[in-house]
Amino acid sequence: MNSANSTKKIIIFASGQGSNAKKIIEYFQDRNDVKIAHVLSNNIRANVLKMAHDFEISALHFDRTAFYDTHEVLHVLKDAEPDLIVLAGFLWMMPTEIINEFENKIINIHPALLPKYGGKGMYGNFVHEAVLKNNETETGITIHYVNENYDEGAIISQKKVKLLETETSKTVAEKVHKLEYEWFPKIIEELL
Ligand code: GAR
Repeated sequence: MNSANSTKKIIIFASGQGSNAKKIIEYFQDRNDVKIAHVLSNNIRANVLKMAHDFEISALHFDRTAFYDTHEVLHVLKDAEPDLIVLAGFLWMMPTEIINEFENKIINIHPALLPKYGGKGMYGNFVHEAVLKNNETETGITIHYVNENYDEGAIISQKKVKLLETETSKTVAEKVHKLEYEWFPKIIEELL
């Protein structure tokens, strides 16, 4: 990955805060062998769009029609020719056309140890609250390929963290975020 024409391109999808997206952007910021081509969000008010814009990265919003009906997002992706599409806190199901076009090139991060605590509606604090409710003694993160079912694609990597009896969903979220920030950029780098 040394010459300009071997630059690897990443596209990030996110729906909210974008703290993982920010860590990924910062990790590759000074590298000329990896480029974040676009940050895309379904949420026009998402902090992630402003953050990407501040880093002078193309920040694009799309709606359901562009995603699922007119395939405008698919066309943006095809034009960009990404090596990896990274879902970092992205809450919509990927359309079949995109999954088929970019087979084994779309990865997601999930804030629990899949197959536990996955599926539709299991995101962010809902996951951490379910983990606490079941008195789990550990939780973690799962980085996996994306297929047509929520959180069911092949697992690439999992990292664990111990939980104390005194945890709240806020402290669990902090522990999980810490793992995400440490490992997600590194795993992306390995995959590239
Ligand atoms: C992250 O913890 C990520 O694992 C989770 O959303 C958070 C986004 O935070 N993703 C899911 O729950 C997907 N099912 P961020 O926007 O600050 O990166």
